[in-house]
Amino acid sequence: MRQHRIILLPGDGIGPEITAVARRLLDQVSNQHGFQLNFEKHPIGGAAIDASGSPLPESTLRACRSSDGVLLAAIGSPRFDALPREERPETGLLGLRAGMKLFANLRPVTILPALIDASSLKANVIEGVDLMVVRELTGGIYFGQPKGRVEADGDERAFNTMTYSKSEIDRIAKVAFELAGERSGKLCSVDKANVLDVSQLWRDRVDALAESYEDVQVSHMYVDNAAMQLVRNPSQFDVLLTGNLFGDILSDEAAMLTGSIGMLPSASLGSEGPGLFEPVHGSAPDIAGQDLANPMAMVLSAAMMLRIGLKESEAAKALERSVDRVLKAGFRTGDLISEGCTQLGCEAMGEQLLQAL
Ligand code: IPM
Ligand code: MG
Repeated sequence: MRQHRIILLPGDGIGPEITAVARRLLDQVSNQHGFQLNFEKHPIGGAAIDASGSPLPESTLRACRSSDGVLLAAIGSPRFDALPREERPETGLLGLRAGMKLFANLRPVTILPALIDASSLKANVIEGVDLMVVRELTGGIYFGQPKGRVEADGDERAFNTMTYSKSEIDRIAKVAFELAGERSGKLCSVDKANVLDVSQLWRDRVDALAESYEDVQVSHMYVDNAAMQLVRNPSQFDVLLTGNLFGDILSDEAAMLTGSIGMLPSASLGSEGPGLFEPVHGSAPDIAGQDLANPMAMVLSAAMMLRIGLKESEAAKALERSVDRVLKAGFRTGDLISEGCTQLGCEAMGEQLLQAL
């Protein structure tokens, strides 16, 4: 039987609840499709700080690197906001992305017909939206040096550096070009080249690479305009290529087209080795432990892991179908609730998903 070694990183907040749902579904779907998933659970983020003092224990990173796929729920809690940056949960996640060399973050945004009325945008604006944010994940202002906080001349100053090298831009742009080629052939690269030097290099490299991808139609858009166009006319986009910070912001915005950020999965990939699959949403400390979370972004992330990471595409489709079915049957978690639908908690939603599978 095919075997895959999967690392589960439940993390903080609603993480453990949605991980439990995903795990039960993965157990069932692997049984149905004739392969076996061997799970190992490891701490990350606040949970790891509590257990060992570090947001990314060496043992967690080692296990992830030697696995076939990593499924992460969410990290972060206001309990740790006062810690120095190196010791905070977010630093654990950034360390994992960097430690696994996951430079390409894919965030697909599709509108499920059953949810068309859950969006805060009009149905005719979001109908047919099917786009993919390709976000650079291990560079840019998140990791640029120098950075810090200094006191000088009786004042205090803090700074970060937004920096990209030609090779960093090229490798993420190639991912976006290839994807655009497999999809509708449209690539929109987002930058702030009217102001930032780093963006001008970004734009120059995208133009240079475009010559090798004749089947892809390339456009460039300033990030402020892209933010506006995403709510004005989102169906103009297919693949959106962004740097780390712009992609962070635009992917949250794009998530709201779907009605809830609780629906959005993501895949983070390197040029080799296992991928990391995680919902776009955070740890939602305000609803943690109350059985209110929406497990669907986590389940859809598990589907991305099956398809991209493990090449189990039939099982991936089955998981995605179960989400469709449950939504069509009118079941909703609190974040998506609308008139005439049945509201369920996280666990009960997991039950429905299992039955639909
Ligand atoms: C995301 C999150 C992370 C990021 C945080 C938690 C560090 O917002 O995955 O989008 O900024 O990348
Ligand atoms: Mg974010």
